[in-house]
Amino acid sequence: MNFGQLSWGKTNRLAQIFRPNKKGEHHTVMLAVDHPYFYGPTTGLIDPRKTILPIVPYADAISPAKGTLEYCLDPLIPTPVILRVTGGNSILRREELSDEHIITSIEEALKLNAVGVSISVYIDTEHQSQTIKNLGKLANEAGKYDLLVLGITAVGAKLEEKVKGEGGKGDKDFDPGKYFAHAGRIIQENGANIVKTYFCENFEQVREGIQVPIVIAGGKKIPEKDALEFTFRAIQAGVEGVDMGRNIFQADKPVAMIQAVKSIVHEEKTVEKAFEIYNDLKQ
Ligand code: 5RP
Repeated sequence: MNFGQLSWGKTNRLAQIFRPNKKGEHHTVMLAVDHPYFYGPTTGLIDPRKTILPIVPYADAISPAKGTLEYCLDPLIPTPVILRVTGGNSILRREELSDEHIITSIEEALKLNAVGVSISVYIDTEHQSQTIKNLGKLANEAGKYDLLVLGITAVGAKLEEKVKGEGGKGDKDFDPGKYFAHAGRIIQENGANIVKTYFCENFEQVREGIQVPIVIAGGKKIPEKDALEFTFRAIQAGVEGVDMGRNIFQADKPVAMIQAVKSIVHEEKTVEKAFEIYNDLKQ
């Protein structure tokens, strides 16, 4: 992994999240639990105190929003926190999803002892400029204290249609690799120290176009083996890890799932082996 020429503080915070394997290569399995900031009570996070507390000790980092962190997570847990600081939207107004603002200040993030902050950037949407400006502003503020900035390539309503073709309206000329490379690089250039994106075909161009560490989102819940498959392919393509939510906390057995994901990310296990680990731990 490329720690770049970052300050001591940022390098140390990166090293808290990205853990070395036997070969000295740094990877991470972050647990994304920020969904309620715009989804409300999300399946698997309806009462995070009951569902995610057993998973957290296995995560290299967690990424909640402020409400889940303060009210549901034990402050004695040593797991590093990347705090979600943008919002202003709700899934009930899908067409307005990209209309995000910085909601939680850097001072709040410092008080909550976060090692970094996360922000969504909506490229090729109505609020592209606003969300890039949010990132620039946040990076300037976070930089004063050497807090890390995790920039998320957010897929708004318009992009979701193009990517997934929901309602049969998919755009067959849309090239996800090209889009995610384009979006991720803009996010890097405007101040992110880590880029969160989605795994897709032709991922090589995404990896090549982005020099900061990349973590992959899990996306909507899919069968456990399929989630392990794309995790494996992403690691093979050179990403530094995952920031995975629903495919862990909505798995049939979340504690087993996070350990199976870790076996791929940190121990270079195959999909078959990781699925075996999942099934063994399920018992
Ligand atoms: C939205 C997000 C999500 O809040 C979340 O972190 C994604 O995690 P997953 O897709 O793995 O459930 O990043 O842009």
